[in-house]
Amino acid sequence: MNSDINIPQFPKSYWQQSVSLPDFPKLSESIKTDIGIVGGGITGITAAYLLTKEGLDVTLIDAGQILNGVTGHTTAKITAQHGIIYDELIKHFGKDNATLYHQACLDAKQFIENTIRTHHIDCDYQQEDAYIFTNSDAYLSQLETEKEAYNQLDIDSELSNSMPLEIPVKSVLKMKNQAQFHPLKYLKILADEALSNGLQIYEETTATDVEHNKRPAIITREGERINCQYVIQASHYPFYDGEGFYPTRMYPERSYIVAVKTPQHFPGGMYINAESPTHSVRSVNMDDEDLWLIAGENHKPGQGQSTMKHYEALQDYAAKHFGISEYVYRWSAQDLTTMDKVPYIGPVTKNEDNVFVATGYRKWGMTNGTIAAQIITDRILDKDNPYHKLYTPSRFQADPSIREFTKMNADVAKHMIRGKLEYTNDNVSSLKTDDATVTRVNGKRTGVYKDEDNQLYAVDTTCKHLGCEVNWNSGDRTWDCPCHGSRYSYTGEVIEGPAKEPLNKVELEQQ
Ligand code: FES
Repeated sequence: MNSDINIPQFPKSYWQQSVSLPDFPKLSESIKTDIGIVGGGITGITAAYLLTKEGLDVTLIDAGQILNGVTGHTTAKITAQHGIIYDELIKHFGKDNATLYHQACLDAKQFIENTIRTHHIDCDYQQEDAYIFTNSDAYLSQLETEKEAYNQLDIDSELSNSMPLEIPVKSVLKMKNQAQFHPLKYLKILADEALSNGLQIYEETTATDVEHNKRPAIITREGERINCQYVIQASHYPFYDGEGFYPTRMYPERSYIVAVKTPQHFPGGMYINAESPTHSVRSVNMDDEDLWLIAGENHKPGQGQSTMKHYEALQDYAAKHFGISEYVYRWSAQDLTTMDKVPYIGPVTKNEDNVFVATGYRKWGMTNGTIAAQIITDRILDKDNPYHKLYTPSRFQADPSIREFTKMNADVAKHMIRGKLEYTNDNVSSLKTDDATVTRVNGKRTGVYKDEDNQLYAVDTTCKHLGCEVNWNSGDRTWDCPCHGSRYSYTGEVIEGPAKEPLNKVELEQQ
């Protein structure tokens, strides 16, 4: 590896760095609206765009800034090629439902394309083929089986042993005519359109509960109420569960992206490998140069290892296959996967048809978020939608990967117990700058981070969701929970749910 290449010190997403967004105020009083949307990512903003177009009164709140969650940290592929999935969908849901799943993704792509055309949105939209590749003999038969599934579903595709990106491969499955774009350039215009149609946006406003009633109310951390007819939870993890038991029906995974310049010209296409660890590659045009986005290295959050090693692994991969001339950005994302790999989109429980949830996108948020906004909007407008049944959260399907979930929940129990016992006897005064440790303060497991100005931040490491112990994420400087993926800043503020409350702060004695 070229030792002159420096890893960017702080994680920053290219999407966020290349678009400027306005700030919105914090909600300071109780209000009334037709539709209350929680979460300003692709689902929330697309739903707000669609609903305000119909003349409805819509209010959107976000716990931080809009477009700063998963949507701001995506790889932004608009594709129906969601990894190797169609053979499994046919076996589990039947051919008709697998066809619907594929069609829903194509419709989402078409919707994005039409919207770009209608509003003349300049968002680097490009038609690209999508490729799943493998260089491992163990995955050859999986790609063949997946190709047979594509044939059954009439998906325009090709199985071969080469692709435009020059890396060693043994088999490649191409899905033709997919797309990629700059998600924030696109969603900024949708938000502007919705604002001009009357949308109200409030930032730094955390929803903590829903009062379920004929007319539900969103309750914020400060105790304000948003009284509405419908609530849309577009907040990634549903903050209101309604006894839908979502934490036991989904698991989180973190993944990483490095954005680099290489001496090579990018040959076009969007790529992902079949094996583990995942590696995916696409490019964006930055100032007339190719910026290569190399993503992957998925793992469960909060497992306690250094997360920088995942960035380093991606950097090594990029250096080995393409060469790196400049390392421009790095960032990470967290995604949720449902029991049967199909997102949960629809009423949060069977009995609550005015409180919706949209979650479990399994890293394919651009298509799934657009599908969710359309399904929920149609439901509110009382219009038929061909896909709502497939995605409904209360569906029951015997689950092929139930063992995986039993394992996940056993893992949660293990972290509940073992996490409490894991800490060091480090003296906080010996902590290096920009580093953290877990120690004991007054008998309590405490996480301490020292910033670059030697300022110490100490938090009680007990997660506010269900009491597991959070661990330090050195790559992003966050405290991450291994159980259901809640994440907190080093000051203890919630970055990602299901936790709703910040970690307790701990007073340190003068060291
Ligand atoms: Fe569930 Fe921490 S205990 S996210």
